[in-house]
Amino acid sequence: MCGIVGYAGTEQAAPILLEGLEKLEYRGYDSAGIAVLSPERGLQVEKAKGRLKVLRDLTKGGGTVEGVLGIGHTRWATHGEPSDVNSHPQLSAGRRIAVVHNGIIENYVEIKEFLSSQGVRFRSETDTEVVAQLLEYYYNECGDAMQAVYRMLDRIEGAYALGILFRDLPGAFIAARKDAPLLLGYGKGYSFIASDVTAIVKHTRDVAYMEDGEVALVTAESIQVFNAMGQPVEKKHSWVDWDVSAAEKGGYAHFMFKEIMEQPEAVRKTVSPRLRNGRVCFDELGLTEEEIRAFSRLFIVACGSSYHVGMVGKYNLERLLRRPVDVMLASEFRYADPLVDEHTLVIVISQSGETLDSMAALRQAKALGARVLAIVNVVGSSIAREADWVLYTWAGPEIAVATTKAYSTQLVLLDMLGLRFAEALGSIPEEEYARIVAELQALPAKLQAVLENTEQIKYLASRYFNHNSIFFIGRNLDYALGLEGSLKLKEISYIHCEAYASGELKHGTISLIEKGTLVVALCCYAPLFDKSVSNIVEVKARGADIVALTTESLAGELGKTAENILSIPDTHVILQPSLGVLPLQIFAYYVALQRGCDIDKPRNLAKSVTVE
Ligand code: AGP
Ligand code: GLU
Repeated sequence: MCGIVGYAGTEQAAPILLEGLEKLEYRGYDSAGIAVLSPERGLQVEKAKGRLKVLRDLTKGGGTVEGVLGIGHTRWATHGEPSDVNSHPQLSAGRRIAVVHNGIIENYVEIKEFLSSQGVRFRSETDTEVVAQLLEYYYNECGDAMQAVYRMLDRIEGAYALGILFRDLPGAFIAARKDAPLLLGYGKGYSFIASDVTAIVKHTRDVAYMEDGEVALVTAESIQVFNAMGQPVEKKHSWVDWDVSAAEKGGYAHFMFKEIMEQPEAVRKTVSPRLRNGRVCFDELGLTEEEIRAFSRLFIVACGSSYHVGMVGKYNLERLLRRPVDVMLASEFRYADPLVDEHTLVIVISQSGETLDSMAALRQAKALGARVLAIVNVVGSSIAREADWVLYTWAGPEIAVATTKAYSTQLVLLDMLGLRFAEALGSIPEEEYARIVAELQALPAKLQAVLENTEQIKYLASRYFNHNSIFFIGRNLDYALGLEGSLKLKEISYIHCEAYASGELKHGTISLIEKGTLVVALCCYAPLFDKSVSNIVEVKARGADIVALTTESLAGELGKTAENILSIPDTHVILQPSLGVLPLQIFAYYVALQRGCDIDKPRNLAKSVTVE
């Protein structure tokens, strides 16, 4: 999920690698490193936690490392907190192989256990280290670098973009990819690999994009590519005509849109490693079934969009567990003298893991005797470190201030936690459990389907971007979803909008509805569909314009009452908000775009609020 650069040429590699990694800094990272091979000094590895400046100072701008062939990495930790030893390149035990990796090796635990049983000693906590150690294990057996790579690739599961240096393979390095981007850069007398073009566009715009399963042997003179069967592949070249700033956003105009579009992949990375043989498995959660059953209540605490995840979670977890689930804003929890004791599980949700209100709430919960489970995106962050247990969302770096993929991965992770707890409590029938798991597996594809059908959303944004007051209404899960839709829109477009439980309109809010008021009516939750339709009639009678969101199976019926209908694929009811949030994010994005707002850095806002 972070940055890789590789160079083979005639110039000193280290300064080129450092410069390339600096071009990838915008992607967010927590550590960096390089490995350079030279006939005289062999395999040299320099790496450090922290900003690239640390690495640059360590290597005196690359001057302390000699060689014209090397690989570099900026790390976004997923397994093993940011530290020097967990930084990449990861080395094999014999220091003959260096590996840089983007992605997650999903079966690293079993591989690590196998290699440890063979006497291999691991140094880091990362999943990546198993790649380096497994390569050496196979290389010791077959003596051939490419063969060792293929055997390793056959064994690992998960997502990877890999750069691999063998001490005994002078003049070349190897690259491989599956489910993580990696491109090849072609030059006269030099070659590159990179996570994206920004790292190498200064040197070449002549690139080819590696496909899943491909392996490349890279030298200064050539790049040979082979498919998963080891057969040579002729790569189609592309000429990069993006300017660098567009390239930084993967060709999108804003990080927010890039991150909206990354959600199917981000959700897949959150879900897939935690589903085995149809069961939800949290290897990282040392909670026994007895401990799960011993909790008398769950208390979700968070801020902003993370709090909105908790609002959805309350409905879903109470449905699954039939146990009380409270949810409270962290800034309120801190001063509310909450009813929390040693039988309470407090779930703190935070993308950054540094939000001060959430951090303070965590400490207070622990002081009251509660156990704390954190759902966090940033590995090794303060909240992650102080919680009793932590589940990482693995959404990758989220740059835009307005959260999208982190929200979505938090949501699906909380649903999975609910399933795991339901299994321990025996609170849902096995067929219901299986139905939800099947829909979890189908979710990335359904998310992708929503993202491929945004024209109507774009059109509606162009119709309503000039409104100065917009209402989101819904019931049950739709109300919780409306909270997030409303925040997304107000955060980046500066339009005043609010989310209301539809049933509350008649208790005051409906006085605000007048001719032309835009009401975004969320009607996905089938059990209350008829009531939600009545609420649409209610506000239309007072002159409101309607944009309605529902499921594909209800869209026809809803069309009898509302004209602007957006729909999401049908799924299990607890996963509806995971699909429903996408049209609301995209609507907010296009409204803000029409209004010329600073979408990635909205006024007055920070990505992580580390103040009271
Ligand atoms: C969401 O778009 C906002 N940027 C904000 O509400 C955010 O969710 C909130 O500050 C909590 O941040 P956290 O998840 O990093 O704790
Ligand atoms: N999963 C690897 C690690 O945690 C790679 C993370 C990345 O993509 O930077 O070290």
